[in-house]
Amino acid sequence: TNESVNTNQHLYEIMNEASNFYQYNLFNSVSGERVLEYLSNRKLSNETIKHFELGFSPKEKDLLYQFLKSKGYSVSDMINLGLVKQSNDGTYYDLFTNRLMFPITNSFGKTIAFSGRTLDKNDKVKYVNSPETVIFKKGETVYHLAEAGLDIRKKKFVMLYEGFFDVISPYQAGFTNGVATMGTALTINQARLIKKTVDKVIVAYDGDSAGQKAIISAIPVLLNAGLIVEVLKIPDKKDPDDYIKEYGSEAYQNLLSNNVQDPYQYQYELYRENLDLNNSNDIKTFQANVTRMLQNASPAIVSLYTKRIADELRINEKDVK
Ligand code: UTP
Ligand code: MN
Ligand code: MN
Ligand code: MN
Ligand code: MN
Repeated sequence: TNESVNTNQHLYEIMNEASNFYQYNLFNSVSGERVLEYLSNRKLSNETIKHFELGFSPKEKDLLYQFLKSKGYSVSDMINLGLVKQSNDGTYYDLFTNRLMFPITNSFGKTIAFSGRTLDKNDKVKYVNSPETVIFKKGETVYHLAEAGLDIRKKKFVMLYEGFFDVISPYQAGFTNGVATMGTALTINQARLIKKTVDKVIVAYDGDSAGQKAIISAIPVLLNAGLIVEVLKIPDKKDPDDYIKEYGSEAYQNLLSNNVQDPYQYQYELYRENLDLNNSNDIKTFQANVTRMLQNASPAIVSLYTKRIADELRINEKDVK
């Protein structure tokens, strides 16, 4: 409501200050240079870095806290926003230190959360995320949707990715209509947010088995929101960022032209690939998967796949049914 937007005004202000602080620190600190080098190794241009307002959280334990305090913001707001924590000895420390920072915005383009990527290969936690707060609900947030809204409408479809770099690399290569779920299972609220912008979504999750599983669970959610769904298959277990880095943007365009399937085709082929006709357990799993896939499908689709299964498994259609 308008009222809650107004009462939260100062919270958005603090998040914006934090984002500016991280961005400033990326471009104007000695340790930021190393991060710029990391980004340049990942083939991101300064223009791209600025478009996505990437930043760097300093190594020191409490520089953001000190900065926000000097601006007159209250510690309790910093804590409620998940930016600052209090240790047992009573001192305050920043949640994000020594990480590449991604600001996450709401549908008005206001920063409501951050995700911070480690630059240390030995770090157990690749991305640290803001906790849920008064202004940040992860299940109601789609990364880069506000910023890409116009391009999505112009192109009449959205590309749905898992990760930040999968939005960013394609963007730089001219595929500016990308958004991301940020790794978690897609929620119906996220799907509805997408549907408010556009009618068609191409799911382009990572090509590994985790990505395949996530596609299978995202499909019914997207269909339930009334979206037209297609799936982009990324080969070699790569993610879109890896793929573009390795093969270039023309190859990515070719994938988009040649490697997109409707959601039934995609699921069916995946289930079929895993089916050994001599293994009764496989047959059971296949049966369960296909039944689930066709649960809410139209009669035309049900009949199409009934035929296909009958042909491929050499059983008659009546038995398939
Ligand atoms: P991935 O593990 O595929 O990372 O997670 P990535 O996006 O390819 O990142 P790079 O290329 O290794 O840098 C996909 C998304 O899941 C979320 C992030 O949003 C990430 O972009 N994620 C992943 C987390 O929130 N926490 C994690 O520890 C890992
Ligand atoms: Mn800004
Ligand atoms: Mn992954
Ligand atoms: Mn990935
Ligand atoms: Mn990646």
